[in-house]
Amino acid sequence: MIRLDQVSKQYSPGRATGLFILQDISLAFAENRFTCLLGPSGCGKTTLLNLIAGFIAPTSGRVLFQDVPVDKPGPDRGVIFQDATLFPWMTVLDNVRFGLCQQGLSHEQCTAVAQEYLDLVGMLPHTAAWPVSLSGGMRQRVAIARILALQPKVMLMDEPFSALDANSRERLQDELLRICEIRPVTVVYITHNVEEAVFLAERVIVMGPAPDTIHADIHLPSKRPRLRTSREFTETTALLRAELDTLPCCIASSSRGVHGL
Ligand SMILES: Nc1ncnc2c1ncn2[C@@H]1O[C@H](COP(=O)(O)OP(=O)(O)O)[C@@H](O)[C@H]1O
Ligand SMILES: [Mg+2]
Repeated sequence: MIRLDQVSKQYSPGRATGLFILQDISLAFAENRFTCLLGPSGCGKTTLLNLIAGFIAPTSGRVLFQDVPVDKPGPDRGVIFQDATLFPWMTVLDNVRFGLCQQGLSHEQCTAVAQEYLDLVGMLPHTAAWPVSLSGGMRQRVAIARILALQPKVMLMDEPFSALDANSRERLQDELLRICEIRPVTVVYITHNVEEAVFLAERVIVMGPAPDTIHADIHLPSKRPRLRTSREFTETTALLRAELDTLPCCIASSSRGVHGL
């Protein structure tokens, strides 16, 4: 479904600080699979996601979505950020209706579809609420409903639950897996949290600083739900932690020239 072909990304090419963040990456993401990109801060996870989303272009190489080069964002690739970016002047229902109305659905159809997806994320009782009155977890639920209602083929999620408290985070992880069972979608999910990656993913790609950006590519058993207390879970998290421990830390772009120390 998504393919990266020898992709490199350099911010500010030509400048002394313009070093490669990603270098010669070739990766493929299969349809309806859940992949986590795991790696320390600054290693280029968001950059990779932004390339797939079409927000930025590679310096060299190609990003293909269903065999067509990505050159701009599109509703087929929904993006969810760390902080839910809801329109504060719209109710929960109108936030979800907005994108649907842009697609030319009738008023009644927009309302019906928006309600269906708000129900899916457990927010139907809050359709009339304003974003400011919601908790962070509730706002993320609305953001997920808003994206899913547009029926994207891919959901690109950039540390979507990392600003939430541990309880809300685990509940939303459970919910996300349940939603993916009901509405299969290809997910690329960024996290720097090992437990989260093991709980959610069918495949975990461990990223490190360039030039060896893809440090490990691990396929996990796809049987779900995973038990956070099981031996398999503990062993897999230990394995991934060991992989992460072998990575040099990623340091600020202005001094990336000396990474690897
Ligand atoms: N627009 C930009 N211009 C210049 N450097 C950037 C830009 N975006 C990110 N970077 C740099 O690229 C590196 C990787 O950033 P990012 O992809 O956000 O990493 P991660 O998501 O893994 O934390 C960082 O060193 C960051 O400072
Ligand atoms: Mg990031």
